[in-house]
Amino acid sequence: MWDLVALLGRDLFDRMFFTFITMLIVVSAYYDLRDKNYPPSAVGLPIFGYLPMLNQKTPYTTLKDLATHYGKVFSIYLGSVYTVVISDVKLIREALNLDNFHEKTPLILANGVANGKGILMAESDRWKQHRFFLMSTLKSLSSTKGKSSRVVLEDKIQNSLSDFIQDIKESTGNACDIRPALKHSIGSLMFDVVIGMRPKKGDPNWGKLQNTIPNQLNMMSVTSSNNFVPLLRKFSKFTDAIGKLLKGKDEAAKLYENCVENFPKADSNNFQSIVEAYIAEAKRRDGKTDDSFSADQISQVLLDTLAMSWETTLDSVHWLFVYLAMYPEVQENILREMDCVLGSNREDLSLESCNKLTYTEAVIMEVWRHRPVLPMGLPHCAAERTKIGNYWISEGTLVVPLIYAVHRDQRYWEKPDDFIPERHLNDDGTIRKSEYFIPFQTGKRACIGEEFAQWTVLLFLVKMMNDFKISFPKGIKYNQEDLPDFCVTSSPPPYRLILEAR
Ligand code: HEM
Repeated sequence: MWDLVALLGRDLFDRMFFTFITMLIVVSAYYDLRDKNYPPSAVGLPIFGYLPMLNQKTPYTTLKDLATHYGKVFSIYLGSVYTVVISDVKLIREALNLDNFHEKTPLILANGVANGKGILMAESDRWKQHRFFLMSTLKSLSSTKGKSSRVVLEDKIQNSLSDFIQDIKESTGNACDIRPALKHSIGSLMFDVVIGMRPKKGDPNWGKLQNTIPNQLNMMSVTSSNNFVPLLRKFSKFTDAIGKLLKGKDEAAKLYENCVENFPKADSNNFQSIVEAYIAEAKRRDGKTDDSFSADQISQVLLDTLAMSWETTLDSVHWLFVYLAMYPEVQENILREMDCVLGSNREDLSLESCNKLTYTEAVIMEVWRHRPVLPMGLPHCAAERTKIGNYWISEGTLVVPLIYAVHRDQRYWEKPDDFIPERHLNDDGTIRKSEYFIPFQTGKRACIGEEFAQWTVLLFLVKMMNDFKISFPKGIKYNQEDLPDFCVTSSPPPYRLILEAR
C-alpha cells in the first residue's frame, strides 16, 4: 500500500482514493434504490421542489403531463414534502383500499388546524367510528310523518331548489352570475342536512358564514406553497389562511352550541339532521371519559361535512350549467328525454321520476368525468413503507390520486378530451358503469355523500332544463385560460349566463 502511495505520489493517490469512494457510494445508492424500486422522480428546484413549475390554474394538467413522461407512479417534491402521484386506476384502487393509506395528509394547513379531530383529518379508531356514525345517520334520517331518509333528503333538496328558482327568476333574460344564488341555495341545503336549520337569505350571520365555511376546504389547497415551504409561513398569506381556518373552526363551535340549545329533545330514534343524531348520541354517552363525542370533536365533524359537501356540490351544479351553455344540443337531448319519459306536462319532477332519465344522468356523469370537482382527489398519507405495483412508497409520503389523469386517459376512454355523454350509456339506454370513473375517489375513505350529491345535482338539472334555456352572452366562449386559480376544488370561470324562460 505504502509502495503504491510512493509510486503514484501522495496527491494523485488521494484523488484516486476519493474518486473510488465516491463511485462506491453512487453505485451502492443506485443498487439500493433499484432494489427498493422507488418511483421515478421529476426533479424540481431546491426548497420549492416542483411547485413553481405547476400550472397555477390547472396543476393537475402539469401532473398528467409528468405522468406521460415518468409513468403512472412518479414522485416529486412539493416544497419539502415528498409526494407520490398515482394516475393508474388499478393502482389508485389498490392503494386506497389498503389500511396503510388511511392516514391523512402531513399538510400543516389541514392537520395543523383540525388536530386529528372531525372526520377529514381523523385517523384510526376515531375516523372509523365517525365515518360509520355519519354514514348510518345519513341513511336513517326520519320524520315524525314516518318518511324515509331518502324522502327527507329529497324534501330538503326540493326546498332549496324552489329558493334557487325564485332567486334567479328576477334575472331571467339577462346575463347573470348564478353563483351567489347557487351558493345560497346549496349552502342552505347542506346546513339543513348537517345543522338542521335553513338560513334566511338576508341574515347577516349567514352572509358571514357563506364567506368562511365553503372555503374551508379550498384554504387547505394541495398546491399552496404555504403547506409545503416552511420559510413562507412567516408571510401574511399563510397567517391569513390559518386565521380563516381557525375562524371556521370557531364558527362551527358556536353553531354546535346553538344546536344544543335548539334541539334540547334530540332523540336518537327520530332525527332530521346530522347534528340531532350527534346531540342524542353525546347525551347517551354522558359521563364516559373518552372524548370521541366531545363538543370539539362533534363541531369539527360538522365543519368537515359542511366543507366537503357545500363547495363540491356547488361546483358540480355550476360546471353543469356552463357545459349546458357550451352544448345547446345536449339541452335539446335532455328535453327530448324528459318529454318522452316524464311527458310534456311534466308536473312530476320527483326523484323517483327523474331517476328514470338515463341520458340526463349520463350528462351529469360526463361533466364529472371531464371536469372532476376534485381533479387531484384528496391526498392521503402512507402510514408505513408499502409496495404499490412495482414501487415502494416510504412511510409519511403524501399520495395524490390523480383523478383528472384517470378521467382523461385514452387507455380507458375513447377521445377522452371530448365531451360525449353517450359514452356512459349501454346500447339498451341503461347506464354503463365504468371502473375508470372515480369522481368521488375510491377505497375505504371514499366520499360518503355520493348518492346525496347525485340526487341534488339531478334534481337541479331537471328543474333548470324544465324551466329555462341556458346560453352564454354573445361573444363569450369557454376558454381554459379564464379559469380561476386552482384550490382544492375546480371551479368554473366566473362567466355570466343567460337563462331564458321556456
Ligand atoms: C359532487 C359532490 C361531491 C364530490 C365530488 C365529493 C368528493 C369527495 C372526495 C373525492 C372525497 C375524498 C375521499 C378520500 O379521502 O379518499 C370525499 C370525502 C368525503 N365526502 Fe364527499 N364529495 C361530494 C359531496 C359530498 C356530500 C354531499 C357530502 C355529505 C353529505 C360529502 C361528505 C364527505 C365526507 C364526510 C368525506 C370524508 C370521508 C372520510 O374521510 O372517511 N361529500 N368526497
